[in-house]
Amino acid sequence: MLDLSALPPGFIWGAATAAYQIEGAAAEDGRKPSIWDTFSHTPGAVDNGDTGDVACDHYHRWPEDVALMRRLNLDAYRFSIAWPRVLPDGVGTVNQAGLDFYDRLVDALLAAGIRPFVTLYHWDLPQALQDAGGWPNRATAEAFADYAAVVAGRLGDRVADWNTVNEPLCVSWIGHLDGRMAPGERDLTRAVHTSHHVLLGHGLVNQAIRASAPLAPNVGIVCNLSPIEPGSDRPEDVAAAVRADGHTNRWWLDPVFGRGYPADMIECYGVEPPVRAGDLDVIASATEFLGINYYFRQIVVDDPAGTAPFARQIPVPGSVETAMPWEVYARGLQDILVGVTETYNPASILVTENGSAWYDTVESSGEIQDKERTDYLEQHLEAVRDAVLRGAPVDGYFAWSLLDNFEWAYGYDKRFGLIHVDYDTQVRTIKASGYRYADLITAHKRSRD
Ligand code: FCB
Repeated sequence: MLDLSALPPGFIWGAATAAYQIEGAAAEDGRKPSIWDTFSHTPGAVDNGDTGDVACDHYHRWPEDVALMRRLNLDAYRFSIAWPRVLPDGVGTVNQAGLDFYDRLVDALLAAGIRPFVTLYHWDLPQALQDAGGWPNRATAEAFADYAAVVAGRLGDRVADWNTVNEPLCVSWIGHLDGRMAPGERDLTRAVHTSHHVLLGHGLVNQAIRASAPLAPNVGIVCNLSPIEPGSDRPEDVAAAVRADGHTNRWWLDPVFGRGYPADMIECYGVEPPVRAGDLDVIASATEFLGINYYFRQIVVDDPAGTAPFARQIPVPGSVETAMPWEVYARGLQDILVGVTETYNPASILVTENGSAWYDTVESSGEIQDKERTDYLEQHLEAVRDAVLRGAPVDGYFAWSLLDNFEWAYGYDKRFGLIHVDYDTQVRTIKASGYRYADLITAHKRSRD
């Protein structure tokens, strides 16, 4: 079996989910719509017209799901809080019933010996805040900090581990520039303004947690990063790769690590982020870890007729692709972990998401022999181990995802789970990859004893 004994003794083994992707119960106990309710109910926005109305019905089935986490031998579970459950109008009145749900979940996790890693924003902005201007509006960053203080005030006596924002790239560029995710906008200026307010929100939330939570906080932002390569050695393609790296990686990491926004990208966008005095210090306020989500690399060519950053991703001939279809490229995870360590020197890195979608087959026996997902998992864990051997301070890995779930604009067809969900019956079945993960976790724990 894969030898992971080089991973640190306290390595955190986890799995991740997000509220809108699993909870369902969209209108229960006072929850009001988020931008994802609106978007998924917009004809043509999501494959098959799927919505998160029911999803995995985790809102009702969480005790069973916690039991499944135990069966997978998880140390930790990364989940997100639905802002529209806690503050249905985004600001103002706190909905205690919404908080009660997370309160029970946290207690159950702790009773099961599983460490709760709470993500405060995984894309489900209350629709009321969108109606008031959304992320392009600075007030949304301030509302985010107020909401975080409410959550930390309620859960902070038991939760120490916080992810502020999940993937500012997706919120900004996919939600406001490409329009493929909620709120479905295509406007470069609004996208750049969003990016600044999301990063500002991260910093404000970091400060709010420190002010309201009694436990020593362990806080980090979560960025989805990709190694970028030029499609040829033509100078235009090499320059496109620099821009794509700026757009995907540096635009987020540079300000978080105190370097401000990359000047070449401000020039590329032709839009100044709306920075006010003190903002860059807030964004760079000290945190304990950097969360990295890794799915694929990008090979790009110059695309002068396209939109910023004028770089187009090209397919890799002969590559193995998942159902997304994303290239399987485990080496990219090692390169990202080592590259980020060399460039930014974070104190600690958590791989907060990594995983793959495949068209699983349920055998007549009921088993799911998902060899591709198992291979993917092993290859990427090997990449993490090799990055650790090269000096990257990686302290944990969260598989995406615990359960098959609502994969945003792709709906339910793209299954990332270590656990299969039958959406007709809500029956959960651990896949072969889930059992393998449980065994790898046990083997690593033995090796460290
Ligand atoms: C990431 C998201 C996560 C999931 C995976 C496949 O970008 O954070 O919610 O959709 O992709």
